[in-house]
Amino acid sequence: MNIALIGYGKMGKVIEEVAIRKGHQIALKLTSKDVWDKDTLVNHSTDVAIEFTQPSVVTKNILTCFDANVPVVVGTTGWYQGVNEISQTCIEKNQAMLYASNFSIGVNLFFKINEMVAALMNKYNEYEVSVTEVHHVHKKDAPSGTAISIAEGILKYYPKKIQWRLDSNKDGLWIRARRVGDEKGYHSVCYQSEVDSIQIDHQAHSRKGFAIGAVLAAEYIKGKNGVFQMKDVLDFFSR
Ligand SMILES: NC(=O)c1ccc[n+]([C@@H]2O[C@H](COP(=O)([O-])OP(=O)(O)OC[C@H]3O[C@@H](n4cnc5c(N)ncnc54)[C@H](OP(=O)(O)O)[C@@H]3O)[C@@H](O)[C@H]2O)c1
Repeated sequence: MNIALIGYGKMGKVIEEVAIRKGHQIALKLTSKDVWDKDTLVNHSTDVAIEFTQPSVVTKNILTCFDANVPVVVGTTGWYQGVNEISQTCIEKNQAMLYASNFSIGVNLFFKINEMVAALMNKYNEYEVSVTEVHHVHKKDAPSGTAISIAEGILKYYPKKIQWRLDSNKDGLWIRARRVGDEKGYHSVCYQSEVDSIQIDHQAHSRKGFAIGAVLAAEYIKGKNGVFQMKDVLDFFSR
């Protein structure tokens, strides 16, 4: 497969390694310094684009992929207020997009475990639930997209909690967002009562886990039309 890397930063470089090891070619490596458009993707015979850039440019990049008729895997986080509109455009233009707040297979298993635990714990009012996420100091968005996905999984089972919040409030679900060194990604959910606490957590050891999932997603989306998420990929490859 010919892959265009839109964004060749920390993630783009690890995705390149994983993709080449799996026998794919990197047709393009684009950074903020490059001037490119739909013809650039077409002229490099791009089969799939993998987009890991920054929230302010992601929408434009996705639309350029649609115009080039190139399926796009979107890893950038912090842009999800625009996701419904882009998904609609994707369907109207008969294009393909797969987005995920976290491509790690382990984190996607953690999403499922999180919901199972929330379904159990919501019956015990003495436990107050909160989410913690820790990432490297250069991360532009807070809370992380992964923490938001975890919070949404919990909120399904806690109707009294109106929404997630970055501060502590009885009616909301508190997400503590911390920025430390080169932290690759830590997420935990804590249920705390006066007498004890129960905690589940996920620790990423390197960026490779995200890259493996992103390449798997690129292999999955090639030749498809529609809007997909990581659970579609995992359901497909775990059959
Ligand atoms: N979904 C997941 O599993 C997952 C995992 C990790 C990270 N992320 C997210 O992925 C994004 C990127 O993370 P990162 O750690 O790789 O960031 P990074 O190291 O800052 O790299 C970003 C790259 O995007 C490039 N870029 C910026 N604007 C561009 C544009 N208009 N066109 C093309 N390239 C452009 C930058 O170019 P320059 O080099 O010129 O600045 C840089 O190469 C973030 O939103 C992060 O939160 C998601």
